[in-house]
Amino acid sequence: MRRRRLAEAYLARHREVDGWLVDTTARATDHLLQAQTELGVRGNVLEIGVHHGRYFIVLANGLAAGESALAIDLFADQARNTTRSGSGDWVELAANIARFAPLARVEVVQADSVELGDEFIAAQYGVRFASIDGGHDRATTCSDLWLAERLAERGAIVALDDIYRQDWSGVTAGLARYFAEGGGLHPFAFVPNKVLLTTDGRWAEEYRGRLRQGFPDYCDRFRPRQELFAFDDLLLIWDTPQG
Ligand SMILES: C[S@@+](CC[C@H](N)C(=O)[O-])C[C@H]1O[C@@H](n2cnc3c(N)ncnc32)[C@H](O)[C@@H]1O
Repeated sequence: MRRRRLAEAYLARHREVDGWLVDTTARATDHLLQAQTELGVRGNVLEIGVHHGRYFIVLANGLAAGESALAIDLFADQARNTTRSGSGDWVELAANIARFAPLARVEVVQADSVELGDEFIAAQYGVRFASIDGGHDRATTCSDLWLAERLAERGAIVALDDIYRQDWSGVTAGLARYFAEGGGLHPFAFVPNKVLLTTDGRWAEEYRGRLRQGFPDYCDRFRPRQELFAFDDLLLIWDTPQG
């Protein structure tokens, strides 16, 4: 119960943490994490590219008992942050976690995500929610998507940030490369500034249903089905209610 209260309190206060997150996306993510717990999808959560933890704390507060949250960032190694997307800060992150997610079991790793390979996957396999918001170029985005796919439990959700942004075009280019290489994740919804993917079409249908139930006023009424590459059934959730 205390975990839930912390999660709800943070949804109202995430703007106090530096970073990038739209209210509706925070609430939709929390809703899906709860749905996963109800549906028996178990596992850890992780984010690649945490900056000061604004979105990461939503994930950490959504954990069920026995699960943990993994934060991956370059932190002090900003010379490798070639797309200059944010700037991870371990001290700020730790302070924000202590303040807003004190009950979460958290592990923090300083790494360049493109260098995380078989050993990391063997150690961390079993992820139910992964956020990709690190390097915003084609190669890094594609590599991070493959990493998330290889870590994913059945029914896992992967949130890819900055999709279709002109100023972060490498993200969409990276998703295109991932599909061209045979990536198996299945996109199911756009929430503000992110596309959500899961492990297969059955889970995609389940999660679309959950979002429709939880956010009926935020669904696009006029164009309910959106197309993304070979997929033609994504749900569009707007950032404000659609009158
Ligand atoms: C846009 S910020 C993340 C914002 C954050 N998700 C939030 O909720 O505000 C991008 C982060 O990715 C990190 N980063 C960039 N390239 C990376 C890489 N190759 N591996 C790991 N982290 C990376 C940066 O240090 C920065 O903290």
